[in-house]
Amino acid sequence: MTVPDLPAELTAALNAKLQGLSRSDAAARAALISRTYRGGGNSRAIATEADALAYALARMPATYAAVTASLNALGEIRTDFAPKNLLDVGAGPGTATWAAAEAFSSLTEFALLDANPALRALALDLFHGSSRLANAGYAHRDARAALADAEAADLVVASYVIAELSDAEQAALAELMWAKTRDTLLIVEPGTPAGYARILALRAQLIASGAHVAAPCPHDRACPLQAPDWCHFTQRLPRSRTHMQVKGVELPFEDEKFSYVALTRAPVARHPARVLAQPVVGKVEVAAKLCTVDGVVVAKVPRRAKADYAAARRWRWGDAVIEEG
Ligand SMILES: C[S@@+](CC[C@H](N)C(=O)[O-])C[C@H]1O[C@@H](n2cnc3c(N)ncnc32)[C@H](O)[C@@H]1O
Repeated sequence: MTVPDLPAELTAALNAKLQGLSRSDAAARAALISRTYRGGGNSRAIATEADALAYALARMPATYAAVTASLNALGEIRTDFAPKNLLDVGAGPGTATWAAAEAFSSLTEFALLDANPALRALALDLFHGSSRLANAGYAHRDARAALADAEAADLVVASYVIAELSDAEQAALAELMWAKTRDTLLIVEPGTPAGYARILALRAQLIASGAHVAAPCPHDRACPLQAPDWCHFTQRLPRSRTHMQVKGVELPFEDEKFSYVALTRAPVARHPARVLAQPVVGKVEVAAKLCTVDGVVVAKVPRRAKADYAAARRWRWGDAVIEEG
């Protein structure tokens, strides 16, 4: 998967907001927000314009990368998918909308909703100079109430939202989102065991309601992974100098772990296996953990199978490989 930099228009809009910004103040705010999340809190900690900007500077590159990687995986399986409209649920600073606009040039209508006024205001500000997003509609309401009134969309996305809801709210929101999904619903969560467990529960709930899995799973059956294993992926992204300052770190890149599921109304035609960890490339073989239609296997591709070995050497964690069924 390519390294997804933020789009130039978004970078320009964020840079314009950096004028006169105290990096240490932004870093302190971002650290507090991050501590709140880690302690089980939610986005209500983001209360002011300065909080919203600090959050966006610290987290947008990584959530953008995760959503882009998930959308790319979906696009690989559904090569014919050309959504016209997007509904971004719990849109925050608009990260998933930017990612979807980049991934699908077919998108012309963008609807967002979120209960947080500071993040909504920032999103609209960032959209202002964008050629495609300047007219996006952004409802400021609780997701369940807003969804009841929302138009159905070809693509519905909930990125890093579900964790903020109770179990009962998660199930109710999933049902409402599915009801508003004309074609595909994408849910992205942090790539932790808890994030994976939430994805798994919503996946099972919506399959029972008639959904099919487009990615990452090659089937609609129960996930074959056994705890303590969990299905997650990782996306490396470069950090800008501001990003490093606001996060208070020195490493010029970060690896964002994420879990996701893309659910479609119609069954997908292709069911490639999914690479579940970085393959081990040895002198005699490539060993890769794959999720296949028949379950999880460790595929061993010997060096003597020259063409297959050469192909397997290029496999990366998260890739869809080997056509099946
Ligand atoms: C961690 S942020 C993620 C924002 C954005 N989707 C992204 O990927 O950058 C979670 C968002 O979900 C929103 N949210 C949580 N519960 C909500 C609810 N019940 N109704 C509407 N928005 C909600 C929060 O206000 C916040 O903007």
